Amino acid sequence: MRADWQNVKRVGYANALKPLPPIGIFAPMATSIPRQGSAARPGEGPDRRLSVAPMMDCTDRFDRFFLRRITRRALLYTEMVTTGAILHGDRDRLLRFDPAEHPVALQLGGSEPAALAECARIGAERGYDEINLNVGCPSDRVQSGRFGVCLMAEPGLVADCVRAMRRAVTVPVTVKCRIGIDGRDDYGFLRDFVAAIADAGCRTVIVHARTAILTGLTPKQNREIPPLRYGVAARLKADFPDLEIVLNGGIASLDEAEAHLETFDGAMIGRAAYHTPWSLADADARLFGAPAPCRTRREAALAMLPYIERELAAGVPLHRILRHMTGLFHGVPGGRAWRRTLSENAHKPGAGPDVLLAALAFTEPGDRAAA
Ligand SMILES: Cc1cc2nc3c(=O)[nH]c(=O)nc-3n(C[C@H](O)[C@H](O)[C@H](O)COP(=O)(O)O)c2cc1C
Repeated sequence: MRADWQNVKRVGYANALKPLPPIGIFAPMATSIPRQGSAARPGEGPDRRLSVAPMMDCTDRFDRFFLRRITRRALLYTEMVTTGAILHGDRDRLLRFDPAEHPVALQLGGSEPAALAECARIGAERGYDEINLNVGCPSDRVQSGRFGVCLMAEPGLVADCVRAMRRAVTVPVTVKCRIGIDGRDDYGFLRDFVAAIADAGCRTVIVHARTAILTGLTPKQNREIPPLRYGVAARLKADFPDLEIVLNGGIASLDEAEAHLETFDGAMIGRAAYHTPWSLADADARLFGAPAPCRTRREAALAMLPYIERELAAGVPLHRILRHMTGLFHGVPGGRAWRRTLSENAHKPGAGPDVLLAALAFTEPGDRAAA
């Protein structure tokens, strides 16, 4: 039998091609998923015990759809979208998502309450489960637009933004911030910032447990050089027991995420979830008591085929989808050949689902291990 996509479609590939019901549509929303820890939870809306961080150029709709083949329960975040882009740009392209991506949060970048309120309204109307405000990004571009992490120095303005956004939507409005900025990294600064946004009605704060250095470091260095200070985030949780505090920064595995849930209401994983997505494979079973969508990496890859075909037909270039899948077989036999085959072939003119099947031929079945 030829291992090409037309054959796969005709013959069927075990369970791999079964469509997944979109969780936010048919399943009860995350608030009613039984929680394994304490019954009381301070936040509102989606279950945030495990989430995948917003990451520019990474967590686009193609990546999120792919991640849904690995976990249906983790809350997924969009890349940051600025208010200017939503109000004046190609809104459909920026905000489109597949129902299977639920629960999914829209992250906004901006600092004008009215513009943020309008964008929050647009996002909620399109079905996002949460609207998140970025108060953590340190890039120069973002600082010159006076938003991102430099807003930590303006708690009153952030509170006004949160109030305006909350008035505009019924879904939760959350804030993602750092523990401080250079020169303002004492605990009192963070405490006062959080008190101000809590007073404005924010019930959930995602804390990237590093200070941001506003001058002299690139965004990448700002994710690596300032030390992680989980103790500061823990103190925040102790001082604001009624707020949902989600810890972010340097969480590399589900084991670590689970350990942090002893202290925090949620754990948000960024780079590890993107570069080694299969590390989330046991998330649904371990954290949510639910079956995993796919049993193996191979099954997760195959489950992308109908989606890939649909998106190609809509004019999406193959590499925009496959580039997010290169880490799927990280650390297991055939992983390098998988990555190389995808990277080298996905750009070629006329490239189609056969590229994925060719890459899969280098891998071995029975690869459940979440290494
Ligand atoms: C490529 C990349 C892009 C990012 N883009 C965003 C973004 O758009 N919004 C945001 O709040 N944080 C962004 N971040 C920061 C992550 O959300 C997260 O806070 C950071 O990577 C620390 O978590 P980690 O150690 O688990 O990766 C980005 C990080 C990376 C690596």
